[in-house]
Order: sequence, then structure tokens, then C-alpha cells
Amino acid sequence: MPKNLQLAITAFGEPDTLKLQQTDIPTPSEGQVLVKVGFAGVNPIDAKTRAGLGWGAEKIKDCLPWTPGFDAAGVVVQDSGQFKAGDRIVGRIVEGGGYGQYLCAPSDALSFVPEDVSLEQASTLPVAGLTALQALELVNTTKDDKVLILAGAGGVGHIAIQLAKAKGADVFASCSDKNEEFVSSLGATALDYGKAPLEQQVQDIDVLIDLMGGDVGEAALASVKAGGRVVTVPTITAPRIIEAAEKRGVIAQGMLVQPNVAQLDALLNAVSDKSLTIEISKIYPLEDGVQAHVEIQSGRTRGKILLEIPQ
Ligand SMILES: NC(=O)c1ccc[n+]([C@@H]2O[C@H](COP(=O)([O-])OP(=O)(O)OC[C@H]3O[C@@H](n4cnc5c(N)ncnc54)[C@H](OP(=O)(O)O)[C@@H]3O)[C@@H](O)[C@H]2O)c1
Repeated sequence: MPKNLQLAITAFGEPDTLKLQQTDIPTPSEGQVLVKVGFAGVNPIDAKTRAGLGWGAEKIKDCLPWTPGFDAAGVVVQDSGQFKAGDRIVGRIVEGGGYGQYLCAPSDALSFVPEDVSLEQASTLPVAGLTALQALELVNTTKDDKVLILAGAGGVGHIAIQLAKAKGADVFASCSDKNEEFVSSLGATALDYGKAPLEQQVQDIDVLIDLMGGDVGEAALASVKAGGRVVTVPTITAPRIIEAAEKRGVIAQGMLVQPNVAQLDALLNAVSDKSLTIEISKIYPLEDGVQAHVEIQSGRTRGKILLEIPQ
């Protein structure tokens, strides 16, 4: 009987609390599709949840061992509704499970992957791509805006730069010196945060996409003009940034990325027509997921890192 190899969080703690396990292949219920996963995105939320932090850990604390993975790209196993066996699909899987060979995904969260988009590329888009797109839309970013994106070289940031540029905005993005060339190549004015405080490098920002939160997010508020709009994306420090923004006459809001098939389709089409470029800096085999967590929690990843799931 074939089994389902997964990499699960067995206890809250360090990356080595992730362990391989074998479970039964799940049976889809009404409205679900059985998917054989090819690639899963690795996101900071996965590491925070594993460490026992934030809303993710609160949600799963009574469900350990639990298999993370909110981004999954793979192949449909059995016909189900509009999906046929062999279709290549990708989805934002709210219940997790991407770090495993098989999962049952809600059919209304799945997009077909265009022929000329790889499963690797597709697996980067649900969390990072949707977050970038939804953050810019939340504050109605337009061509008239001067936009500052913190952590422009990261998973969300490198996509947000390109989407903001596509809207015609004037885009600035912070990064370390080693990523200046990369961030510039995406169309932003790169601001090396090691050189001088950001407020000395850029002022009069209309839209701040804060992908750092904490001290870095709070300091960046000094670059935003009165009446400017801020989305602070890391949820753990959002209340602090919202309060600090209010004191400066700036409107800040937090967000939680939502599954949205139409938006995911648009991102996939943008990759297909090459108007969106995805940086994949490393693909780890599933069994090296501990190392992938060490890397993602360093906060220094360029673009996206993925897990390749054994077939
Ligand atoms: N609320 C939601 O729904 C939601 C959704 C997605 C993500 N998030 C959160 O949003 C944040 C960003 O996610 P992500 O996937 O883009 O993270 P990520 O890929 O891990 O970001 C890594 C990047 O951060 C940059 N960085 C580190 N320190 C920096 C600093 N002081 N200033 C500017 N850049 C810095 C690094 O560039 P350098 O090496 O050049 O410094 C690196 O490229 C995370 O906290 C994540 O949990 C929230």
C-alpha cells in the first residue's frame, strides 16, 4: 500500500523538530481534489509556526505532528469536478500540507498552471505573490504613488517591486549591499539599509509596503509623508506599527493573505508572459527541510526557496 511521506512539525522549537513521517494517503471529501505535490514554497510563516509563534502556532497547537506548507504545486491524482487526473495545478492551501507527497486541496483554491510555467515557479506564487498583490491593492497603489518596499530582495518583496512597477509607480526598495544589483534589476531604486538610515535616503513616500515590521518597520515610517498609506505585513508586530503610524498622521493597516484564484491566475499569466520574473535561490529536497528552515529563519533569503517532494 503506497504511503504519504511528509515532513511534519513534531513539537514547537528549533528546525530539528521537523521530522519525516509516513501517513496514509488522504481521501478527498466533497469539493476536494487529491494532489500529488511536486514543489512546496518555504515561507517565514512556516518557521514562525514551527517555533511556536503567532497565529499559525495558536491554530495548530493541539494538532501536532502537523505538516506545514501553504504553497503547493503538483499534479491532480484523480478526476474531480473541473480537474482531471494529470492536470498541473497550484494553490494557496490554508490547512497546510505542502511539505508532503499527497494532500487534499479545496478545489476552489486551485489554479491551472500554464504550460510554459514550471511547477517550481508556480509554487512560489500563492503566499508570496498573493501577499505582494493584495498588499498593493489594499492601499490602492497607482502610477502617481512613490512606493517604498522594505525587504525588496525577499520572497514577497521581489514580486511586489515588479507589480508596483507594472502599475507605473515610482518604486524604492531597501536591501543589503549584496542585493542592490538584484533589486535594481527588478526596476526599483535600491536603498542599501547598511549605508544610512532610510529616512535620510528617501522622503515623501505615499505607500509603504512594510515587509519587516518591528524596529525596521517603525523606523521606515519617518520616510512616509503625512496622509501616506502603509501596509505592515508581518502580523506579530502589526499592532505596534499601526499605533506608531497613527501618532505620525499616517494610516497603517495589517493584512492576512487570502486565497484568491483569479489573482493567482493573473500572477501565473504574468510569469507566463514574462512580465513577472521569479527568483528561486535554492531548492532543497524534502528530507533537507530542516536546513531550509535554518535558511528561511535567517531572514536573508534572496527571492524564494522551495522544497522538492520525492515522487
Ligand atoms: N500577513 C501575511 O499574510 C503575510 C504573508 C506573507 C509574508 N508575511 C510576512 O512578511 C515578511 C516578509 O516575507 P518574505 O517571504 O518576503 O520574507 P523573506 O523572503 O524571508 O525575506 C528575506 C529578505 O529580507 C531582507 N532583509 C533582511 N533584513 C532586512 C532589513 N533590515 N531591511 C531590508 N531588508 C531586509 C533580506 O535581504 P538582505 O539580505 O538584502 O538584507 C532578504 O532578501 C515575513 O515576516 C513574513 O512572515 C506575512
